[in-house]
Amino acid sequence: MIKWTDDLLIGIDAIDDQHKELFERIGQFYDSIDKGLTAPQVNEIMDYLADYANTHFATEEGYMSQYDYPEYRQHKELHQVFISDLYTIQKRLSQDGFSSLLGAELEGSLYHWLVEHVSQVDKKLADYLKDKIKS
Ligand SMILES: [Fe+2]
Ligand SMILES: [Fe+2]
Repeated sequence: MIKWTDDLLIGIDAIDDQHKELFERIGQFYDSIDKGLTAPQVNEIMDYLADYANTHFATEEGYMSQYDYPEYRQHKELHQVFISDLYTIQKRLSQDGFSSLLGAELEGSLYHWLVEHVSQVDKKLADYLKDKIKS
C-alpha cells in the first residue's frame, strides 16, 4: 500500500534519498498498526517517523534559504502543517487507540499528503535548485 515509486524522483539526489527513507518509515508506521502492536510501540515508530520528517524538512529548508527560493515561506508552512498533523494523530492514537476512522485519516493526511507534496511542491523546488546548483 505504501510504496515508493521512481515517478517520485525529483532529481536532487540528497532530497530523493531522504524521500525514500521517509516512505520507508511511513510504511513501517502503517505496518505497526496492521500488526496490532501496542500503543507505546506504535508511538515509538511514530516518533521515529516524526524525527525523520523534521530532519528532511530542515534539509529542504536549508536549500531554500541558501539559494533564495522565492516560495520558501509557503513551502515551509506546508511542512509545518504535516508535522502538526502528525502530532495530532499521535495524540489521538494515544488517547483513543486505533480505529478504522483514524486509519482512513492517516492515509489521507500522511501518505497522500506526502505523495502530493513530493510530486508537486518538492518537484517545483528541485526544478529551481537544478539551475542554481549547476551554475
Ligand atoms: Fe520533501
Ligand atoms: Fe517539501
